[in-house]
Amino acid sequence: MKFKKALITGITGQDGSYLAEFLLKKKYIVHGIKRKSSSFNTSRIDHIYANKSFKNKFFLHYGDLLDPNSLTDLISKIKPDEVYNLAAQSHVGVSFQLPNYTSQVNSIGTLNLLHAIYDCRLASKTKFYQASTSELYGEIQESRQSEKTSFYPKSPYATSKLFAYWITKNYRESYKMFASNGILFNHESPRRGETFVTRKITMGISKIIHGLEKCLYLGNIYSLRDWGHARDYVEMCWKVLQYNKPDDFVIATEKQYSVKFFVEQCFKYLGIKIKWSGTGLKEYGKIINCNFEKYSSLKKNMVVIKISNKYFRPNEVNNLIGNASKAKKLLKWKPKTNIHQLIKEMMDTDLEYTRKLKLK
Ligand code: NAP
Ligand code: GDD
Repeated sequence: MKFKKALITGITGQDGSYLAEFLLKKKYIVHGIKRKSSSFNTSRIDHIYANKSFKNKFFLHYGDLLDPNSLTDLISKIKPDEVYNLAAQSHVGVSFQLPNYTSQVNSIGTLNLLHAIYDCRLASKTKFYQASTSELYGEIQESRQSEKTSFYPKSPYATSKLFAYWITKNYRESYKMFASNGILFNHESPRRGETFVTRKITMGISKIIHGLEKCLYLGNIYSLRDWGHARDYVEMCWKVLQYNKPDDFVIATEKQYSVKFFVEQCFKYLGIKIKWSGTGLKEYGKIINCNFEKYSSLKKNMVVIKISNKYFRPNEVNNLIGNASKAKKLLKWKPKTNIHQLIKEMMDTDLEYTRKLKLK
């Protein structure tokens, strides 16, 4: 039996790790590109490497989106059936501090990868998935954003992803490549990077519970997002490439919550009641009630959330909510995990992680 071969860029990231697991379960041979780093950067995929049943099915290679030679070399050797381009400088806030680097990696990096497939004369064989983003909608032009909504990017990150979106379509049209965009709304998990807001919250609260921190500092808590689970969304990346033609798809839960709601629900899940007071930069959240015997680090009226200027962006995307009816209809998709299940999974994992951290 001939197994399909997939090449994943960004395999060491949140989505890369879930996608690798998903494809291996589907009997793919999975190749991943990892960057050279001065410290270990494979913690999200080490368990896959250690799994004996994936021996000779899972391979890691050094490479970088900014090193076209490495891409051409790998693609010519692997000859993948499917390439998933998940690699990016993916932090919107950081992109304001690293606009040039973010643009190089996210825009030119995507071009490098597409062109490597073309150069290796694989344009008619290899399918290409581009990790596009709801950040493209930025200053929203329609109350629910679909594939037909105009883009209005508001950060160097979003602008760089706009180039990547269009160059993907361009290679589809010019060279008849099966090149598709998944326009994914925010998706989270216990493997989310710790500086993205949901994970920052679940990790921050866990540290407060275990007495490792006193207070969590956040930026714009009134920002609204459509949050799904990364595990559900990587299935969609795969489905996008199994569709009968290359196309672009919005993937979203179609439900929207604020950062403030996310914080409240995390505390609520733990049986802790908080109360908000103040406004603007002086807004704060304090503990009103909980089982103080169980949570010995907490005290009544303890201020656990504060607002810091540091976490506001020069240009904010305030409001995103997707319209995923195309994917629901054509790819037969519906999200499996709701916000409460997501919070439970993230809180349980981070509480256990910080409990062990405290024992060290
Ligand atoms: P992530 O956790 O930040 O992972 C990014 C990955 O890209 C990491 O493996 C990183 O390697 C790698 N990378 C960065 N620069 C690279 C370069 N120059 N060459 C090769 N690899 C490089 O991101 P994620 O949340 O999994 O997201 C995956 C993709 O989906 C990204 O393109 C992101 O922009 C996009 N996206 C994400 C969301 C979301 O809500 N998560 C929504 C829409 C779109 P290191 O581990 O070495 O840093
Ligand atoms: N990171 C962070 N840290 N964000 C905060 C904070 C904070 O302390 N306080 C409030 N926020 C707000 C941000 O201003 C933003 O409006 C919202 O919380 C979500 O921020 P992030 O979790 O950093 O995600 P993002 O929406 O900016 O970007 C993520 O989703 C995009 C899809 O829409 C990233 O994964 C992008 O790569 C992805 O394309």
